[in-house]
Amino acid sequence: MTASNPTPLTSDDDWWRTAVVYQVYVRSFADSNGDGVGDLRGVRERLPYLRDLGVDALWLTPFYTSPMVDGGYDVADYRDVDPMFGTLTDFDAMITDAHALGLRIIVDLVPNHTSSAHPWFTAALAAAPGSPERARYLFAEGRGAHGELPPNDWESIFGGPAWTRVPDGQWYLHLFDPAQPDLNWRHPEVRAEFEDVLRFWLDRGVDGFRIDVAHGMIKAEGLPDVGFSSMTTGRRQSELLGKGRLPYFDQDEVHEIYRAWRPILDSYPGGRMAVAEAWAETPQRLARYIGPDELHQAFSFDFLDATWSADSFRKVIDTALVEATIVGAPTTWVLSNHDKQRHVTRYGDGEVGLRRARAASLLMLALPGCAYLYQGEELGLPEVLDLPDELRQDPSFLRTGESRDGCRVPIPWSGELAPYGFGPEGGEPSWLPAPATWAALSVAAQSGVPGSTLELYRTALGIRHSHPALGPDAGEVNWLETTGPGVLAFRRAVGEAELTCVVNLSDAEVLIDGYGRPVAASADLTEQGVGHVLPVDAAAWFDRR
Ligand code: BGC
Ligand code: MG
Repeated sequence: MTASNPTPLTSDDDWWRTAVVYQVYVRSFADSNGDGVGDLRGVRERLPYLRDLGVDALWLTPFYTSPMVDGGYDVADYRDVDPMFGTLTDFDAMITDAHALGLRIIVDLVPNHTSSAHPWFTAALAAAPGSPERARYLFAEGRGAHGELPPNDWESIFGGPAWTRVPDGQWYLHLFDPAQPDLNWRHPEVRAEFEDVLRFWLDRGVDGFRIDVAHGMIKAEGLPDVGFSSMTTGRRQSELLGKGRLPYFDQDEVHEIYRAWRPILDSYPGGRMAVAEAWAETPQRLARYIGPDELHQAFSFDFLDATWSADSFRKVIDTALVEATIVGAPTTWVLSNHDKQRHVTRYGDGEVGLRRARAASLLMLALPGCAYLYQGEELGLPEVLDLPDELRQDPSFLRTGESRDGCRVPIPWSGELAPYGFGPEGGEPSWLPAPATWAALSVAAQSGVPGSTLELYRTALGIRHSHPALGPDAGEVNWLETTGPGVLAFRRAVGEAELTCVVNLSDAEVLIDGYGRPVAASADLTEQGVGHVLPVDAAAWFDRR
């Protein structure tokens, strides 16, 4: 199917198994009203672009009422839209249009913590220690003779202690910013509230949820110490994310929550799904979040973290495929998101980084399962590394010096001057400035230009939709060992139809012969005899039917 003939919204309950989902960081996607901040009307206006790009669904980052301490991951009202982003009416209009265009909508659910501006937390602060209001959060007495030390040694992911003391002497837990108090998920009211929030958005027609910090809601009984911290050893506890066990993450009891949510999702028609942002010690523990009685997908961050080498990719791909097969879930690939340095920059930045990023995208889009794209990767945007400190807004920047703002710079749509059509003519400057070099990267500048990153994505997504070997009945990954070290090659086949993906991660060009006709390539191929030469840091798809 081509971009102008998108996948129809079928009654296919399994749509998410092979979908390409485009992550919209709402604040930085498109600004409809000229206040310098992206909004829901902006998303709505740009839906045709996403339909033409060839994605199946959008994941929208939080647009709920929020003081925006952590870019909206600090929610003060789970059932309303922040005025900065629009209104519920705008949301309804957006989802109606999206569905009419064949695009599904996934919203972000932030259950681990609320904003400190949430009415529950303001009530908790106003109430006394031991009150029912405090029981919905994790308040505790401090240690030390006068309770002057935090209850344990837990560290915030954003740096510093995970506890803040309130005037009456108690401490409350916040695994992220102090403005993001952690909820007590052993409290029945908390569970009931979020089940109701799920229904609220399901009733409004959402097709799924991305579950924020899905591994975090349950903390080990007794709140035991980790045993080390940056204070004692200089090693941050967060270094164990995805590698080790922490008493505040990936506790077995968290799965009860998802087993309660799944029947709610299943009670709605049309294949409503949920994807976990979960970090677990091993791929095996990660797989426990997915399957028929829990969540539908969990991001494979090992894929995102793979280094630029054939061995590294091969290992994470094989492991993810095995784990997904065991639990009957699709693999869920991702290369970039709003928390990670953009993959162009991770792979070396500049020209090399862009070449590799384009090749990695072809690799990802040829794999079975679901793929998540992050807005702007289809333009080959790099991380913006030189944002002035005073403009950075990520709360972790102040506490650790690490900032995620560089991947959150507004999207360049058109024109020669920043913010490149992000907002209407004459509007406010965008909330983060776009670099002076981005005119050439805009959607308008790349559209229709053969070889541009945008056209590469359009081509690849079009083939992904139309080629039987990449479709819902598509075949497994069959590795081809013939291309030599540093080269990844795999074939997927259905009946007579075959698609072979070759990625050259070695330091020499390789001759590809016998896989069929090249239909997509991240760099120019040259013909040699009956074969083709695939340059270094490049990938190509070959079609044989
Ligand atoms: C989100 C982050 C956010 C954090 C706290 C995540 O993992 O993706 O952007 O800062 O959760 O909500
Ligand atoms: Mg706006």
